[in-house]
Amino acid sequence: MKHTHHCAQLTAADLGATVSLVGWVDSIRDHGGILFIDLRDRKGVTQVKFDPQDHPELAQQAATLKPESVVAVSGKIVARPEGTVNKNLPTGAIEVSATALVIHNISETPPFPLTDAGGDKVNEDLRLTYRYLDLRRPKMRKNLHVRHKATKAIRDYFDSQEFIEVETPALFKSTPEGAREYLVPSRIHAGQFYALSQSPQQFKQILMVAGVERYFQIARCFRDEDLRADRQMEFTQVDVEASFIDREDVYRIFEGMVKKVWKEVLGQDLPTPFQRMPFHEAMNRFGVDKPDLRFGFELTDLSETFRNSAFKVFQATVAGGGVIKAINAKGLADLTQGELKNLEDIAKSLGAKGLAFIKCEGGEWKSPIVKFFSDAEKAALTAQLGIADGDVVFFAAASWEKACAILGRIRLEAAQLLVKRGKLEIRHEDWRFLWVVDFPLMTYDEDAKRYLATHHPFTAPVAEDLHLLETAPDKVRGQHYDLVLNGMELGGGSIRIHQPAVQEKVFKDVLKIPGDVVESRFGYMLNAFKYGAPPHGGIAFGLDRMCALLCGTTSIRDVIAFPKTQKGQDLMAQSPTPVTEKQLKELHIAVVAPEAPAAS
Ligand code: AMO
Ligand code: AMP
Repeated sequence: MKHTHHCAQLTAADLGATVSLVGWVDSIRDHGGILFIDLRDRKGVTQVKFDPQDHPELAQQAATLKPESVVAVSGKIVARPEGTVNKNLPTGAIEVSATALVIHNISETPPFPLTDAGGDKVNEDLRLTYRYLDLRRPKMRKNLHVRHKATKAIRDYFDSQEFIEVETPALFKSTPEGAREYLVPSRIHAGQFYALSQSPQQFKQILMVAGVERYFQIARCFRDEDLRADRQMEFTQVDVEASFIDREDVYRIFEGMVKKVWKEVLGQDLPTPFQRMPFHEAMNRFGVDKPDLRFGFELTDLSETFRNSAFKVFQATVAGGGVIKAINAKGLADLTQGELKNLEDIAKSLGAKGLAFIKCEGGEWKSPIVKFFSDAEKAALTAQLGIADGDVVFFAAASWEKACAILGRIRLEAAQLLVKRGKLEIRHEDWRFLWVVDFPLMTYDEDAKRYLATHHPFTAPVAEDLHLLETAPDKVRGQHYDLVLNGMELGGGSIRIHQPAVQEKVFKDVLKIPGDVVESRFGYMLNAFKYGAPPHGGIAFGLDRMCALLCGTTSIRDVIAFPKTQKGQDLMAQSPTPVTEKQLKELHIAVVAPEAPAAS
């Protein structure tokens, strides 16, 4: 039996018609022997009635159905009786009076209710184990749809801008300058490995040398990173590169793309251009390079106020070249002991020695440190932080970097505590796009004892800073930009180095990669650049992250059909798994069992 309509289609206009529908049994209700079945397909539900008075055998057959069984039904469209019309459903005025039924499959009872609320209540591991059931929930079905629409809008947009989509290999060579890579052993070349592509970065630059001029790709990328809500080992980038462009062109092109996606998917008109903020300002005011601009509590620098303070912790920090920073979490004075302890632990995990605070309650300042403050210091504090009754102030005394990182995190945590209390509203549809610009080209890595590229080693320095490359690499600004939305890094990119001599200098003299290593890892690229490399630049967007924000979820797992768990497992298909000795042998691999943890 083929269907004539889908399950969200039939209305009072179809009364009297004979139709066929296919789908899943969403629910079954027995009203005095008459069975009502909500039949569901990907579009919606239609009520089907089996009346034993009309068709006794059919009603008997229908009585064997269980929820989630797959059936085909034929029947006549009749009006629902007065008082049983469902105004919330497009098909709510009618029902199908069944005359034929084909049962394709009887379902076992699902391990959790396949409603939005039912799935949200159960452990995510259960949902991932039965992902095919989880994806039947309306919310998950909608998420897949949003992703499809966003991807289509992106392809249409780049096509309209004369970009072409080019596929690049997933099996690439190992170039361990970025995230940790997945290695793939070669069967043919014993002891040699491919690396799964972390991003098409090098290929897209080579495509510019090849004269493609405007490239994009919806590209799968692989990174062996610790997984989080916004990170998967396997994720998708909207990867783009163009020749003969500068930073302003990039901002314009991508604002156009984002605008189109938001219009097509949500029907919303985003105002452009987006706000811009230098990296240093973002850190100084928000403590992170991906500020959430939907709420205040900005970081305030109090170093001058406490330079000569009687509170030794503060005075000594400033004397030692550090800073005193604070935020005012307005309205959070009812913070519990447990919440405070938790914030302290978070601060300490980021290297803080403590988290000094002032609770302003009942006209009084409750704090372990105010006893050390002079009246002038208290007055300055009140003015600088706009302190009022009901507020809590948190302090960090540390190096600038550390103080920013600590309070940046405390700011986010405090905001969540206020949201929980209903004292602060953070709407997911309050779209606060921000370009973060003027990143330092290099960042000194204390562990590696050398400079590392802040973005990646192909990023071009700002032309005026080029002379500082060898003498003061940390002073050189990169032509790097990130697009941030509501505290999430959506994308990042840069204008690239296109002169082989500058690229070689960055590799060898600044990043201190030995010449032979540069040659074996990047020699082909430096070589390609000798044959006429155009000036070029680009960006990559996290498609998963963009879709998560469009769907109003904070976890990218909700917009990926088959994601991995936090532990990197596929609970449905059950991977990773051991493989046979034969397979290993063919790949010239011997597995060394990890050492058992020492007994304590
Ligand atoms: P970058 O490493 O910043 O840049 O990545 C670009 C964007 O990809 C997304 N992203 C991720 N999403 C989910 N899971 C992950 N593990 C993950 N890692 C990154 C983020 C990020 O902003 N080749 C450069 C881009 C360029 O210079 O053009 C690159 O890959 O949204
Ligand atoms: P102490 O003088 O060590 O007892 O610290 C007094 C208060 O200041 C305590 O609440 C500590 O948590 C806090 N504190 C100590 N060191 C710092 C620091 N570097 N930054 C912020 N608060 C601190």
